[in-house]
Amino acid sequence: MHKSKILITCPKGIPPILKQELLALNLPVLSENIAGVETEGTLDDTLRLNLHLRTGHRALFLLREFIAHHPDELYRNVSAMAWEESIPEDGYLCVTSSVDTPSIKDPRFASLKCKDAIVDRIKERRGRRPDSGPERDRSVVHLYWKDDRCSVYLDTSGEPLSRRGYRKIPLSAPMQETLAAAVVLATGWDGGNNFINPMCGSGTLAIEAALMGLNRAPGLLRSNFGFMHMKGFNEGLWNELREKAKKEARKSIPGRIIATDISAPAVEAAKKNAATAGVEHLIEFGVCDFVDTPLPEDGGVIVMNPGYGERMGEMAQLEIVYKDIGDYFKQKCRGYTGYVFTGNPALAKKVSLKPKRSLQFFNSGIECRLLEYDLYEGSRKKKKSGKIQGALIDGEPDGRQGNGP
Ligand SMILES: C[S@@+](CC[C@H](N)C(=O)[O-])C[C@H]1O[C@@H](n2cnc3c(N)ncnc32)[C@H](O)[C@@H]1O
Repeated sequence: MHKSKILITCPKGIPPILKQELLALNLPVLSENIAGVETEGTLDDTLRLNLHLRTGHRALFLLREFIAHHPDELYRNVSAMAWEESIPEDGYLCVTSSVDTPSIKDPRFASLKCKDAIVDRIKERRGRRPDSGPERDRSVVHLYWKDDRCSVYLDTSGEPLSRRGYRKIPLSAPMQETLAAAVVLATGWDGGNNFINPMCGSGTLAIEAALMGLNRAPGLLRSNFGFMHMKGFNEGLWNELREKAKKEARKSIPGRIIATDISAPAVEAAKKNAATAGVEHLIEFGVCDFVDTPLPEDGGVIVMNPGYGERMGEMAQLEIVYKDIGDYFKQKCRGYTGYVFTGNPALAKKVSLKPKRSLQFFNSGIECRLLEYDLYEGSRKKKKSGKIQGALIDGEPDGRQGNGP
């Protein structure tokens, strides 16, 4: 099977983390750009990528690169490719594109031209043209056209990999699954100690942490990928890879995952999402103000994603919340590494602690920071082992209660 370049796209800020994921999968890193990393492999390798990647959005398998100055040149070049070998004639095709070239004003026109070239070619060879449209749940082709350089890819993911399929209950301001995975990876948490997520909202950070701690491949949650709608899809290999991934998953982890929010509907939604992801048994949920989140004595990481003030009138209230987060870190969280993910630098200052690290991410186009605070100075006074601080937590048969600050 021939090797080709494979471009993995991802949100800005994530390539350094995605790179590490590729190396861990024994795939080379050929190059890195602002929102993607290029590797090399076979179409079979894309099955592994779609199954295991946590921070990538789409695995694009390069079919051909060529020069085109004009849409007619694009059409000629795309028509010359053997589409009848990869797109089923009774299938459904979607063409997506990323275009920045002087001869095209509307990128949809480039997609249309590319789609026409493909379906005309298949009709000519097979007598029947596949249906086409905007749905990305079957065969997907991606066109990248910058100046006079065109790259045509098979999109082996189809729907972006950020759509894991577990977030069924919509809440406001949820974090995208891939971004949440990148945040957890950036903390270095590996399941060995505790992962605390006050202000959990729909639970994305805690769910991604649970999947990671269990070494569970995120692609196991999805039943549909672009590669399944390509001719020659190696279904036997896909089933083998899935079985292997299931065997490699752990049943439990040494650390505890605790997720709380002040909003009861948010916690309800997070629980349902965790159940859909198959990790509800691993996350201890609770409804409480963040300062009352139970904190196991033996430390770990604590990750907070407070709102960052999109609406007028919210700022004054949020300033108090950020100040309270700083006080909470200082007074209650010694023994932990604290993280605040925010898109508002002015609010971040209100935490009034000096961050040890500041990592840049982007959330829906907004520049955000993951601020890391070392809360290790001094040591937390050891109390009776296993006891935790703060509010009552669901799922604890003895209704363990906090020790107070
Ligand atoms: C930006 S959202 C978190 C989104 C989350 N990362 C997700 O993926 O869904 C902020 C959350 O903080 C919660 N919140 C606000 N003030 C709080 C407080 N004082 N204590 C606990 N939770 C609070 C809100 O209910 C909301 O769910």
